[in-house]
Formats: sequence, structure tokens, C-alpha cells
Amino acid sequence: MPKLIILLIMGGFQGLLGWYMVKSGLVKNPDVSHYRLAMHLITAFLTFAYTFWLALGLMYPKQVKVAVNPLKEWFRMLFLAVLIQIIWGAFVAGLNAGRVYNTWPKMGDQWIAEGVTAMQPWYVNFIEGLAGVQFVHRYLAYGVVALIVFIFIKAKKQMLSSSQKWGVNALLIAVGVQFLLGVFTLLYTVPVNLGLLHQLGAFVLLGSVVFGLHRFRFLNATASSI
Ligand code: HEM
Repeated sequence: MPKLIILLIMGGFQGLLGWYMVKSGLVKNPDVSHYRLAMHLITAFLTFAYTFWLALGLMYPKQVKVAVNPLKEWFRMLFLAVLIQIIWGAFVAGLNAGRVYNTWPKMGDQWIAEGVTAMQPWYVNFIEGLAGVQFVHRYLAYGVVALIVFIFIKAKKQMLSSSQKWGVNALLIAVGVQFLLGVFTLLYTVPVNLGLLHQLGAFVLLGSVVFGLHRFRFLNATASSI
């Protein structure tokens, strides 16, 4: 019951933030504050993540608690990294920063475009500058990919249950597809269908992370357990 009440509060809060976001625009100008968009988007992702977490608890009621899995902390770090990446994704979308530097892997002909450091004070570039937020989003993506490849390699050295095997494979595929979708969304200057697929891909990726987080809490007793 307490878990369901938390879920209800999260859902209500999501609605409240939606109203708060729409209040910042949309009447005369079809645009909203990118900060409010990011808040609304991240609460949607968190509500989804918690719902999925609760569902996983029902799907796998018998967890054999042999010993804490050393990958548990890495999964936590990955969860945080993906959330931060999603927030900067919302900044890119909210500022229409996917309409500049439509090249990959470089930003134009530079690895770090001059525009990235154009605004003063310097940190404003990374939260309000088009070049700066895009810079954070494109380079943090490499970090997320690297973290997943690391977890994948480490996991394959453990004795894995079928759900764990399935989980790490899904994670690797999800991040590969999501990365490519991001690159193509940028290269084609954000067509609606690619933008939507990229947003959906982020849900699938976060879902895979939550699945891994749930399945890798404990070491496996036998390779055949769930
Ligand atoms: C690998 C992890 C990645 C994740 C989890 C991720 C997630 C997201 C999210 C949640 C959004 C906001 C979508 C929306 O609100 O419409 C977004 C937007 C965007 N992302 Fe990513 N992204 C990733 C990688 C990339 C990469 C590698 C690129 C390009 C190099 C990229 C380019 C973009 C662009 C251009 C947008 C703006 C789309 C729009 O204006 O609707 N992303 N991303």
C-alpha cells in the first residue's frame, strides 16, 4: 500500500509539473521553458522507472540473497548517468539545440565548437547555450556507452541467471540503438519521427537499466535460477 501511495503521489506531481510547464508558454508562443520541460520529462521517466521497479518485484518474488553483487554500485552509477543524459536531452529539445552543428562525430569541423564557450559566465553555456547543451549531450553519450560496455564485460565473467543474461544483452542493444538514433536525429536536423523514436529509445534504455538494477542486486546461487 505505501508503495502504491508513493506511485499515486508521483503521478499527481507529474500532472502538476505538466501544468507548470505549459504555464511558461504555448499560449501565444508554441514553446516552453527548457528547465520546466526537463523537470516534466524527468519526473515522467522516474514515475515509469518506479512503476517498472514495483512490477519487477511482483514478477520476481523469490530473490535468492546469496551475497551483494559487485555490479550493483555500477548499475546505480549508470542509472544516475542515464538520468543526467535524459535531462540534457530535454535541454537540447527545449532549446532546439538539435538544429545547430548537424554533423557527427565533430561539431562542424571542430571536436569542441567555439560556440561551446561563447557565453559568460562559462557555466551558462552548459545549461542555456545551444552549442554548450548539445556538447554535454553528445559527449555524455560516450560515457553512458562506455559504462554499459564495462558492465557488460564484467557481467559476462559472472555465473549469470537467464534473466541477468537477457538483461545485459538488452542493455547493450538498447544503448547502441539509442546512440544511433541520436546521431541520425542530429544529422537530419530533428525530423519529428526520429525525435520521437529517440525519446522512446530513452524509455527503453532506462527500462533496461532498471531491469539490470533489479536483477543484479545479488550474486547468483546457481546459473539456472531466474
Ligand atoms: C546514449 C544515450 C542517449 C540518451 C539516453 C538520450 C536521451 C535523449 C532524450 C530523453 C532527449 C529528449 C527528447 C525529447 O524530449 O523530445 C534527447 C534529445 C536529443 N538527443 Fe539524445 N540521447 C542519447 C544520445 C544522443 C546522441 C549520441 C546524440 C547525437 C550525437 C543525441 C542527440 C539528440 C538530439 C539532437 C536531441 C533533440 C531532439 C529534439 O529536439 O526533439 N542524443 N536525447
